[in-house]
Amino acid sequence: METSLERIRKDIEALSHFNATPGCGVTRFSYSKEDRQARDYLLEQFKSLDLDVSIDGVGNIRARYLGKDSDAPIVMTGSHIDTVLNGGKFDGVAGVVGALEIVRVMHENDIRPTHSVEIVIFTEEEGSNFYSTMAGSKALTGKYGIDDLKKISNENGVSMFDVARQFGLTPENVEEHRIRPGEVKAMIELHVEQGAVLDDEKKTIGIVNAIAGMKTFVVTFTGKSNHAGTTPMYLRENPMSAAAQVISEVEDILQQVGTHSTVGTVGKIICVPNVPNVIPNKVAFTLDVRDVDPRGIRAAVAEFKKRVADKAAAHKVEVDISLIAQGQAIQLAGTVVGTIETAAQELGLTYKKMNSGAVHDSAMMAELTDVGMIFVPSVAGRSHVPEENTPFEDIKAGCDLLLKTVLRLAR
Ligand code: GLV
Ligand code: MN
Ligand code: MN
Repeated sequence: METSLERIRKDIEALSHFNATPGCGVTRFSYSKEDRQARDYLLEQFKSLDLDVSIDGVGNIRARYLGKDSDAPIVMTGSHIDTVLNGGKFDGVAGVVGALEIVRVMHENDIRPTHSVEIVIFTEEEGSNFYSTMAGSKALTGKYGIDDLKKISNENGVSMFDVARQFGLTPENVEEHRIRPGEVKAMIELHVEQGAVLDDEKKTIGIVNAIAGMKTFVVTFTGKSNHAGTTPMYLRENPMSAAAQVISEVEDILQQVGTHSTVGTVGKIICVPNVPNVIPNKVAFTLDVRDVDPRGIRAAVAEFKKRVADKAAAHKVEVDISLIAQGQAIQLAGTVVGTIETAAQELGLTYKKMNSGAVHDSAMMAELTDVGMIFVPSVAGRSHVPEENTPFEDIKAGCDLLLKTVLRLAR
């Protein structure tokens, strides 16, 4: 019994066409027109499999393939379908299509495990709208309540709560649909590696031991706008100078105080009014810091805050640092890691045990259940870019491993 390469390819290609930026990678933000089209495509697939479908207040989709014992805790598998701006067609989608495909194989072979198997599609994993990664899984696992959904907002200042409502959802009910302790026996997520290790070492499978923790900040320097020609340098209160200096020191901070696995990124910057001949009055930027070792994040953030304060004083500007999202580093469950490893050996797949530098919804599930993750290679390690690529044969190998693992856990 095995998964179908052709069906996997067809699903991934079909989903990649629900895209706001054709010709420039895949862009499919949660709650967009393209998100609606992708959801409709998947819901249509679920129909032919007689799945029990439910959608929570922020749009997390759960589609249950009933086991023999409907009271037994379920085995969950899935990922996300939202993307970053101009991202790839595999991040998240590989795990959603993999979950769909293994349920198809169970359905066509009339296999009924004891435990129900549930496909899960998390909303807003990337944080592309509201800058908070994994907002959907945070809601589903009880880390975000209604107040949090009202607090995080998009570029236009509209909250996730309101955007979800405009999409036709009922975020006011989000807390009723939370996963209860004991409801899930295990969660397995198939995902592309998004790094170069498997491709470099010519291994087909990564078995994840730990997922990095992360903190995301928005730093806002506020000064005074004035004429770029008439204002002498010593009379300026220029937030751009403060921001530029501290941004250029991020690499130095990581080298000085981080661990060997700490990474930091300034990926978004806003300048107001953003006009060539006006000194800005406001410059805001994001800082994303990650590490599988929490000490790296702690040390880097403390040093970063100190340098931000120094630059603000030096340039006579105000500063605000807001923590907008965070996730703990997570060790995955030894039992699930062992089940995946045995299955990989039985299938004759080459594999490597490794950590994940990217964050995943599975990390949010780890407080509630045993979690495992299966990686497949990313060609040249490219991800969150249009060039993101994984051979379909490798995705199929990951799907076969997912099938074997899920059947073992659900039997
Ligand atoms: C999400 O994919 C992230 O790791 O930022
Ligand atoms: Mn992802
Ligand atoms: Mn991603």
